[in-house]
Amino acid sequence: SPRIVRTVAELRAALAPHRASSIGFVPTMGALHEGHLSLLRAARDENAVVVLSIFVNPTQFGESADLDAYPRTEASDVALAGGAGTDLIFAPSVGEMYPAGFATTVSVGGAITGTLEGALRGRSHFDGVATVVSKLLLAVQPDRAYFGAKDAQQVVVVRRMVADLGIPVEIITCPTSRDADGLARSSRNTRLSPTERELAAAIPRSLRAAQDAFASGIRDPRRLAATVREHLVAAELEPEYVEVVDADSLEPIAQVASPALLALAVRVGPVRLIDNVVLAPG
Ligand code: PAJ
Repeated sequence: SPRIVRTVAELRAALAPHRASSIGFVPTMGALHEGHLSLLRAARDENAVVVLSIFVNPTQFGESADLDAYPRTEASDVALAGGAGTDLIFAPSVGEMYPAGFATTVSVGGAITGTLEGALRGRSHFDGVATVVSKLLLAVQPDRAYFGAKDAQQVVVVRRMVADLGIPVEIITCPTSRDADGLARSSRNTRLSPTERELAAAIPRSLRAAQDAFASGIRDPRRLAATVREHLVAAELEPEYVEVVDADSLEPIAQVASPALLALAVRVGPVRLIDNVVLAPG
């Protein structure tokens, strides 16, 4: 099974002999599921060494209740990660990542952090993500880092940060991994009751309905978003937002003429779920 290291110093020492070969890196907050494993497998296919990080990053959580409720399952994570070909796990403490006196924030500005999740959860969410991802990339110094399309805005923010700071890493986006009924896999799904889990299936249904509408020629973002809302409301789910924006800039659009991101957030029982699809005109 993979070796676990808890400090940046141990991580650097463990990776030092492998610097000449390619290093693939998958940052996570643990509670690993098939979505995380698909990232690890992609990293395994393309690199000599695969590093996984497990760190529930407090600075990206708004509500401390959400942070406290976040599942922590390290023993099974280690077994699953080993099965997916992980060589090394970096699982630091909060004190290792944010020692006393820590005072630096990496903040990505502009529309990409102000809209969607940034509008609902506040920009501080993406400040937390950008800060921890830059620290992790500096600690691991991978050739490639793997992120899931499920968190579409996170990928846009990370790509912007890596370009702006000149961090020498290739960012790879992997497709969203879904359960049989289409629900995007998420560590938070384990907190849904069986009834809530059934209601949540309206989320992928609503996105498929929008994809069908798009395929039939509808290009008006308001009509596409309305299709999604109707399906969610029919399942008695109240969306926090349903938006169609430019897939690269995340700016509002009047018409889908180039790839658009249809993104939503919806509360189901105790958890907040996000999902998205890209609508690309042929
Ligand atoms: P976490 O939610 O654990 O997700 C880790 C990575 O797995 C992210 O890149 C996320 O997009 C991806 N992922 C989650 N569910 C997925 C699914 N169903 N299909 C494909 N990929 C999926 O995202 C974070 O952690 C954190 O913000 C982090 C980047 C680790 C910084 O703290």
